Amino acid sequence: MAKVKTKWVCQNCGYETPKYIGKCPDCGAWGTLTEEAEYKIQSPHQSIVTDESPICLINEIEINESIRIPSGYEELDRVLGGGFVQGSLILLAGDPGIGKSTLVLQTAGKICAQNKKLIYVCAEESGSQVKLRAKRLNVNSDNLYVYSQTNLEAVVNQIDNIKPDILVIDSIQSVYTSTITSSSGSVSQIRECTNILMDIAKNKNITVIVIGHVTKDGNIAGPKVLEHMVDTVIYFEGDKYKTQRLLRSIKNRFGSTNEIGVFNMADNGLEEVINPSELFMKEKTDMATPGSVIIASNEGTRALLVEVQALVGSTSYPSPRRVSTGVEYNRLLQIIAVLEKRIGLNLSKHDVYVNVIGGIEIDEPAADLGIALAIATCFRDVVVDSDCVIIGEISLSGEIRNVNNIEKRIYEAQKLGFKKAIIPKQNKKLSENYNIEIIQVPRLMDAIKVCVSKK
Ligand code: TYD
Ligand code: MG
Repeated sequence: MAKVKTKWVCQNCGYETPKYIGKCPDCGAWGTLTEEAEYKIQSPHQSIVTDESPICLINEIEINESIRIPSGYEELDRVLGGGFVQGSLILLAGDPGIGKSTLVLQTAGKICAQNKKLIYVCAEESGSQVKLRAKRLNVNSDNLYVYSQTNLEAVVNQIDNIKPDILVIDSIQSVYTSTITSSSGSVSQIRECTNILMDIAKNKNITVIVIGHVTKDGNIAGPKVLEHMVDTVIYFEGDKYKTQRLLRSIKNRFGSTNEIGVFNMADNGLEEVINPSELFMKEKTDMATPGSVIIASNEGTRALLVEVQALVGSTSYPSPRRVSTGVEYNRLLQIIAVLEKRIGLNLSKHDVYVNVIGGIEIDEPAADLGIALAIATCFRDVVVDSDCVIIGEISLSGEIRNVNNIEKRIYEAQKLGFKKAIIPKQNKKLSENYNIEIIQVPRLMDAIKVCVSKK
């Protein structure tokens, strides 16, 4: 008879200790340890390991060309690095209600159309609820199995019967393994279930997609441990009250992590947005407004035009507020410091708010010049010409530094009908001839001179 254990587990990071403590020594969170009883019947690994891979020389390993399964969506494939890798474990995380189940069901339809078998384990919904949704999304296939089940051992049995290429678990918080007694959704259960799923992926060469809900503070509910265990972590995010949805990979063992995928949630499901710049520009009016600037950001393999807005107003606080959405806070402080020192804007008695439209996070320095111009134009109540795109990194001395992939950015601006691009002087001769006026500027001051005018 196995020994019954109780332990205290941090619900934030998965740290375990035999007795209660108020503060987790691992992640520093307070009051996150809960007691979990664990009744281990047998190691879950014993039951499912079928074929141990033999040790061999790297030169002897043959690469299987069909190792990636295309998802049927260009946007999703881009984020995955070219489709689902066979035998990998992918975590799709996002807020409840953001559209994870919808995305997975639609993708399931596309994958099954390629003659691949898929089991969709809907632990949160009944089979008929899934059928209703599938009908609405026009998903139908003889290769798509739906299994409303929360017990992972039952799922493992079905895998042996059906032998699918892909297994979807919706969601990891609602399945449980009978090998341990703690309730589903607890750190121990999530960790153990993910272990079992990892074994299924690696030993049976099945691609496993696991859906995980995100807590209010933005963590994948329960443990960070989940992120370390899986091969790929993708976040599905967006404003619930808007229709834009962004896919972003934060970890990918088989591809780059700086790609994003853009979708639009419509009445009959998610549609992919092949040209996201158009979507982000749609809400922009033709009229130039103080504090509004279009920048060309580089997201993985493509350029994206986005609008940056700034609001500057006199403060009623003892120390002025600096608020940034979509831009790193310290980057904003640095840009404000350069504006104060090099341009002479006195922002010490003004609140500054900066917002990137469309829920995009800009983390590259090429957006600096655009952010600086948004703040400066709002402060002085002037405008940046509405047909102008701004590209450039600002150094602390107020010079504009060169940026990478400049041609791709200019091309995107030209495609969307912009007439002028302000780019760094340091970027050397451009190879192509563009139908867009290119103005190269050496310093922040020069950029203000060439593209800012009165309202
Ligand atoms: P869902 O995929 O259930 O979210 P999650 O699995 O992440 O919790 O999506 C639920 C939301 O999506 C719901 O609020 C309504 C919206 N939706 C649409 O707008 N159109 C659709 O065709 C579908 C299926 C859902
Ligand atoms: Mg769901």
